Amino acid sequence: MLAGAGGTGLLAATASPAKAAIRARRGRAGSNDGTPEQIHLTWSENPATGVVVSWASPGQARRPRVRIGERVIPAAPRPYTDGISGETVWSYHARVGGLRPGATYAYAVTADNDRNTADPFSATFRTAPTGRASFRFTSFGDLATPNTAWVLSYGQSAYAVEAVESFQPLFHLLNGDLCYANLNPTAQPEVWRDFGNNNQTSAASRPWMPCLGNHEVEFYNGPQGFASYLARYTLPENRVPGFAGRWYSFRIGSVLFVSLDADDVVYQDAAAFVAGPAALVPASGTGHPEIKPGTSFYIRGYSGGAQTAWLERTLAAGRQDETVDWIIVQMHQCAASSSSTGNGSDLGIRQEWLPLFDRYQVDLVLCGHDHDYERSFPVRGADTGAGHEVATGAVVNTLRPHPVTTSDSGIFDTSHGTVHLILGCGGTDAPLDEYGTDTADGSPFPGGSPPGTPSRQAKVFTRADRPVPSSAPDVFTRAAADAVEDAIWSAKRDTVTGYGIAVFDVDPGSGSNGQPSIKVTHYHAVGADPVNPASGAKGAPTPDYTEFETFTLVRPR
Ligand SMILES: [Fe+2]
Repeated sequence: MLAGAGGTGLLAATASPAKAAIRARRGRAGSNDGTPEQIHLTWSENPATGVVVSWASPGQARRPRVRIGERVIPAAPRPYTDGISGETVWSYHARVGGLRPGATYAYAVTADNDRNTADPFSATFRTAPTGRASFRFTSFGDLATPNTAWVLSYGQSAYAVEAVESFQPLFHLLNGDLCYANLNPTAQPEVWRDFGNNNQTSAASRPWMPCLGNHEVEFYNGPQGFASYLARYTLPENRVPGFAGRWYSFRIGSVLFVSLDADDVVYQDAAAFVAGPAALVPASGTGHPEIKPGTSFYIRGYSGGAQTAWLERTLAAGRQDETVDWIIVQMHQCAASSSSTGNGSDLGIRQEWLPLFDRYQVDLVLCGHDHDYERSFPVRGADTGAGHEVATGAVVNTLRPHPVTTSDSGIFDTSHGTVHLILGCGGTDAPLDEYGTDTADGSPFPGGSPPGTPSRQAKVFTRADRPVPSSAPDVFTRAAADAVEDAIWSAKRDTVTGYGIAVFDVDPGSGSNGQPSIKVTHYHAVGADPVNPASGAKGAPTPDYTEFETFTLVRPR
């Protein structure tokens, strides 16, 4: 989330340190308490035969373990100490392997110092099917927590988790900006705790597979600031030394899922930031010096090309594998978003990854970052010279994704082009469902109605927006995107609400003429916007998710 110039800076500057400190003390109270909480599942390397059960406890757990049938599986501890508060977080991971495909299992999580030893937490989950099987998954990003004490948290976050459960997917893709702990820098572990306990409602019963967003980057928490995320999630191995957990892939049926960290390639600087005027002062016990106003944690290029090389290997192998029909990518930031109040698109993704998506016919890309819903036409290749620099009007090459059709037929053959979805519609208090329009040129939006409707316009980051001084002393801002383009790739935008969930039903096709298809239905939470941007009406969190649109992806086998 970046609400225009200086948006994150303002949020960071207005976080309440006093409130945060009180919560931090509460969080540390039970130092001998090994009761499991924040329990969640992820897929193992083979989702048909294994999951990982992960959790945290208020204090260090003694003999943390998972029981499944007659088996008792000891958990491996993976604690970390938050670099700003100095608080130690106790997290645990138990690999549960050797399971049968497409089967339901019950499990329990406990420890010797579990307050609920007599009746420990238990839940059930289902393993993935094998072969060309049908299954359902769901996705959104930008979830936050229901605890409105935290910057960007909002009550819709709880309803969003319940929405996942209501659709009973095999698993959920959580595409980045999980809880915004880095906007509440003095209380990061407490924000994560509220996030984990909220999504446990669903994530203890089906894997939630996350990717990294700009708000997972935290000061003094490891080389890229990912220590908190990495301590809490065990993700499939990418076998790239030094970069475990940052990106990964897994197979379910005939679908290859690829989860990327776009922090590595985007130009936009939207991660941890001290806007000022106050410095960010870590707890004295950490030994870390204060962080001065105007400091941002910018990690573009951190893998030195290792992620893109891995992506190419992974996509090439996937497309050579005749048992793979579909390749679905999730990442946080967007190659094709026309939100006007949010971030927009990023040239870094277009340069580094879209050529690979073209070459290996990636079918679908799921993103978050802008808190809305937008769908592109299938795109392949790029239009050059289609962008304009905001400041000067000069032509700039934004590598605008080229739509292979602008007919919104509802059925798209993704062997001809990749469909991008923006799904940053989880549960923050800042919906961004306002979209760009090029009122100046008035050229018709292709497929728009009525004819002559002004073109859709997208903002594009083509260079780094590093912090600059504002007019206020010791206060710094980061600029909005530096370029715009007519967004001829944009097919559908939800202007009613910034909240929703996408549901994907994979049909492998059957019989000799059976064509694989994926039916996508986006459900939205009408009225959940705190203030509707179009009508100005005040809204509130709602459990009611109704259908916004449905479309089908097909591809010849
Ligand atoms: Fe984001």
